[in-house]
Amino acid sequence: MLYEINFTLNGEKRKVSVLPTETLLDMLRYKLGITSPKSGCEMGSCGTCTVKLNDLIVKSCLVLAVEVDGQEVTTIEGLMADGLTSLQESFLKHNSFQCGYCAPGMIIAAAYLLENNPNPTDEEIKEGLAGNLCRCTGYIPIIAAVKEHVKSGEKGKGARRKP
Ligand code: FES
Ligand code: FES
Repeated sequence: MLYEINFTLNGEKRKVSVLPTETLLDMLRYKLGITSPKSGCEMGSCGTCTVKLNDLIVKSCLVLAVEVDGQEVTTIEGLMADGLTSLQESFLKHNSFQCGYCAPGMIIAAAYLLENNPNPTDEEIKEGLAGNLCRCTGYIPIIAAVKEHVKSGEKGKGARRKP
């Protein structure tokens, strides 16, 4: 049996028919073609599927699609609708990714951290990104990119589009 849900995805109203067991991750990727959230562990451990749900970040593999009925979902595609954000540019500058599989989730998590704590300490950055695993970089260039963004003075704007 399918359920019809209505929600906002990256600023646009969407209506989708979903199975009661379908995850937000699968709906985004396979029904709506939003491929930035990646399928990793599918058990809430790796963070590659991280998206924003209203004002919080969630692991989309742990959220049922029916649960976002009436809610607002934001992915990297929505954040960078007008081009790269300044936070993404910091990640680029520091070569913060190798395979890039963790990148969308990591950037969503970093943007969320900076929105809620515009001037984080190193420990707070590590804690803020603790739910997102990277198997390539050793995290040092990722932390450097977040610090660079903080230094740039664009505090709290990592998750927003560039003007
Ligand atoms: S795929 Fe969702 S946390 Fe790993
Ligand atoms: S760059 Fe490969 S997992 Fe992070």
